[in-house]
Amino acid sequence: MFSVRNSLGLVLVLTRLSCTSVSVPDIAVYFGTKSRYEEVHPNLLRDPTSINSSILRPPPSERCTPVHLTAVIRHGTRYPTTKNIRRIRNLSQLVRTESSRTSAGSGGSAGRLHEIQNSWDMWYTDEMDGQLVMKGREDLRRLAKRLLALFPSLLSEENQRRISLRSSSKHRCISSVEAFQEGLQEVWNHREVQYRHEVDDELMRFFERCRGFVEGVENNRTALLEVEKFKHGEEMERVRRRMAEKLGLPHQRLTPELVEAAFFLCSYELAIKSVHSPWCFLFDESDAKVLEYKSDLKQYWKRSHGHVISSLSSCPLFHHIFRTLDKAGRPRRSTDAVPEPASILVGHAETILPLLSLLGLYKDQTPPTASNYRSQHGRSFRTSRIVPYAANVLFVLYDCQRGPRLQLLINETPVRFPGLEKEDAPLYRDVRLTYRHLLDGCDFERECEGRSGGRGPNIEL
Ligand SMILES: *[C@@H]1O[C@H](CO)[C@@H](O)[C@H](O)[C@H]1NC(C)=O
Ligand SMILES: *[C@@H]1O[C@H](CO)[C@@H](O)[C@H](O)[C@H]1NC(C)=O
Ligand SMILES: *[C@@H]1O[C@H](CO)[C@@H](O)[C@H](O)[C@H]1NC(C)=O
Repeated sequence: MFSVRNSLGLVLVLTRLSCTSVSVPDIAVYFGTKSRYEEVHPNLLRDPTSINSSILRPPPSERCTPVHLTAVIRHGTRYPTTKNIRRIRNLSQLVRTESSRTSAGSGGSAGRLHEIQNSWDMWYTDEMDGQLVMKGREDLRRLAKRLLALFPSLLSEENQRRISLRSSSKHRCISSVEAFQEGLQEVWNHREVQYRHEVDDELMRFFERCRGFVEGVENNRTALLEVEKFKHGEEMERVRRRMAEKLGLPHQRLTPELVEAAFFLCSYELAIKSVHSPWCFLFDESDAKVLEYKSDLKQYWKRSHGHVISSLSSCPLFHHIFRTLDKAGRPRRSTDAVPEPASILVGHAETILPLLSLLGLYKDQTPPTASNYRSQHGRSFRTSRIVPYAANVLFVLYDCQRGPRLQLLINETPVRFPGLEKEDAPLYRDVRLTYRHLLDGCDFERECEGRSGGRGPNIEL
């Protein structure tokens, strides 16, 4: 097995580097969608199940009890997908050929090249293709335990049958929703874990079913022009030259894709194995910020405010969430069926970003472009903070004296609804009022297929 040989190799690397390098630049907070959840909450590195109950903030003057939790959760830490594994393979081939061309021990600029060649093995294989890793299962088990500690009455053992669990069909998501159930059942002291979840791609992978998005954005080169421009712009060019210098390579040998592959390698090895791979030493903080911006640009123009269809494609999920909240908040007679105490929805960064954009979050005044990198340092749209592995969006419905209230938390941090910034947990009816244009519209058929809903197929198409 690769893991045995490799983990030994990496132990050696670590001891060696810790002797030779004075400081490891802390670039891990710039890994974008490949960030560890722990970068958002460093205290979890010490205690992975610690919670902070002061994040739940219904008004103290009203007696409130949580009655429902909807959690939209991204899968945990995963292997690279095949596309990135191929890039990594190209990079490792380049290092191998160049390293045998230049003689070892020549010191100077080729130092890093030989260091990588000697201390790192290409261990990724095509069939790993985006699957959840062990740490990824742990991410979800721990999240489940923290949510259970925050909402003991909702995620209780008695409620087990009434908690709804849905997942995207991708392997990493199924493994994640399983791990979530393992986390709960470990706390409930169940000997044998029982899984029950539904696969629902209409809800969790709406983006691939929205023709307006697929044709207008995903497969449309002009839609992502800013990303292409930045990729070949001066900031990236500087990172590329510096990396080539550190490796002692002519910079033409490094494409922007290979530069990114090296950065991804650093992020993968930290997230998957908790090690600082020798690839990390090719980047300092300013390089990492540029590469983070490159990924943010891509997410912004592909999955967020860049094109309104990207957020509108999440209308089915938006409506599902509010229908669930409506039911949970409705006054009941004793004969009514008891509503779901919790709805767990496991998907992707591509699921969460459009939804948050639809809700109007992380929309800075000036959109990030290829030419305004320097003015974007304070931007709120930072995927490293928003969608790390195991990212989560929590809608907490409380029953309060003045009626139901709703609180939004992103990655276990309170976030206020745009337009309702005065309160952490505004009245649910005010939230509905704020989003009434979406509640009354946001029709998937109309937005994505360009036809009005419920009228059957349009023969013109
Ligand atoms: C808990 O959260 C509050 C508000 O977010 C914060 O001020 C406080 O420092 C946190 N406490 C701990 C122990 O992390
Ligand atoms: C890998 O390198 C080959 C040859 O240079 C190139 O054709 C291919 O596009 C590269 N693949 C990736 C994923 O970068
Ligand atoms: C592609 O994107 C551009 C820029 O957003 C847009 O003007 C154009 O209509 C899109 N093309 C298609 C086929 O949707």
